[in-house]
Amino acid sequence: MSDRKRLRIRSGGPLKGRILLPGDKSLSHRSLLIASLADGVSRIENCLMAGVTETMIECLLALGVDVNITKEPGYPALLIQGRTLRGLIPPSGPLNCRGSATTMRLLAGALAGQVFHSTLDGNRRLRMRPMDRIVEPLKAKGADIRTLNGNAPLMFSPSRLRSSEHVLPLASAQVKSALLLAGLFSDGPTTVIEPHPSRDHLERLLRGLGVPLEDREDKQGRHVVTLLADGASLPPLNLRLPSDPSSAAFLAVAGLLVTDSEIEMPNLCLNPGRTGLFEALDSMAADISISEGPDSNGEPTGSITVRSAVLRGAAIGGRLVTRMIDEFPIFAVAATQAEGMTTVRDATELRFKESDRIQALAEELGKMGAVIQTRSDGFEIHGPVRLQGAVVNGRGDHRLAMSLAVAGLVANGETVVEECHVIRESFPGFPEVLRRLGADVEW
Ligand code: S3P
Repeated sequence: MSDRKRLRIRSGGPLKGRILLPGDKSLSHRSLLIASLADGVSRIENCLMAGVTETMIECLLALGVDVNITKEPGYPALLIQGRTLRGLIPPSGPLNCRGSATTMRLLAGALAGQVFHSTLDGNRRLRMRPMDRIVEPLKAKGADIRTLNGNAPLMFSPSRLRSSEHVLPLASAQVKSALLLAGLFSDGPTTVIEPHPSRDHLERLLRGLGVPLEDREDKQGRHVVTLLADGASLPPLNLRLPSDPSSAAFLAVAGLLVTDSEIEMPNLCLNPGRTGLFEALDSMAADISISEGPDSNGEPTGSITVRSAVLRGAAIGGRLVTRMIDEFPIFAVAATQAEGMTTVRDATELRFKESDRIQALAEELGKMGAVIQTRSDGFEIHGPVRLQGAVVNGRGDHRLAMSLAVAGLVANGETVVEECHVIRESFPGFPEVLRRLGADVEW
């Protein structure tokens, strides 16, 4: 996608086709970082090449990691010459994580255990997002980190990490992963207790490399993960990443809402920590069929086919929220077209994403005629509403921008999504894919 800032969408014809989506964002971030800490050359096929992962790669290059793209036909592959756990080189200046919270939080785990000084910084928006949630537990582990009142920049000084146990107030894969990554550098075990499971991509990757890691549910139903670090070096990765279910979510909802559509998306990562949206839509009478595929390096995969359907409202809350945490913008669009009331609760975390997604959804979809009652921890939508084309704004939030574009597919007249260039952060080919499926889109 070019850097042009406006996406024009008109409602229209059915969306039909089979789309192979880019590699999963969460898996791409983790594979890039683990490959950099491994001993040897890793090969990662179908790594997501988008704004947020390019940011991670730039930071890794600044830490002395060597990254090359092979020119073979088929899936592009990255070859990464790892520097081993203790071999990263001190960066010559602050590492710029731009707007990527995942880059900052995962790198924080790896930098906390290094023997050199480093600084993680980001753009204005990232500087406003909460970092104390990783900084405080990392400090409890022995890390020496200074912040600006709990926000970036994060300044790391050499420290020796110790064994630790952390009880997280919130199920967060980013926090859990930062702590487990730091655990690779500590003297003894690292235990993370979450109120319920979040996506476990890092655990699956590390287990695949032979790192001793246990997880269980305790008597209170909490999810307990323990990494038993032994300082052993990590062998290199050889992976082909499955496609991103969070990118599939936009096409799935588009296919459900646009009459007579049928869209197939093969080879999706179907990690149980990521499939909440499909379950939520299923409970709303969506026509979604999932055919399971082979495991891909410890990750379940499968193909999803969606066909247009009349949806009904649903109540979403509790553990399901964590399993669809990135999907609420597009879920809200689906809810505007569902018969009856849809409620979302237990989702305060949406206020701390790339935008305050509760407020932003109410205001931007409100411009198209949707009425969204906001709550401190979620929202309520009464549907169905005949959406009207409008000029709306992506507010620097890639998932909000793509959701508004999908809303435009079922709105009367023309919708213009301003500030849509942010889409390239996670799904640069989104407008082309919509057009290929038959949508009337210009940019
Ligand atoms: C992510 C975890 C989630 C998600 C983010 C990616 C990850 O964040 O919203 O897009 O890759 O670990 P939290 O852990 O903050 O919920």
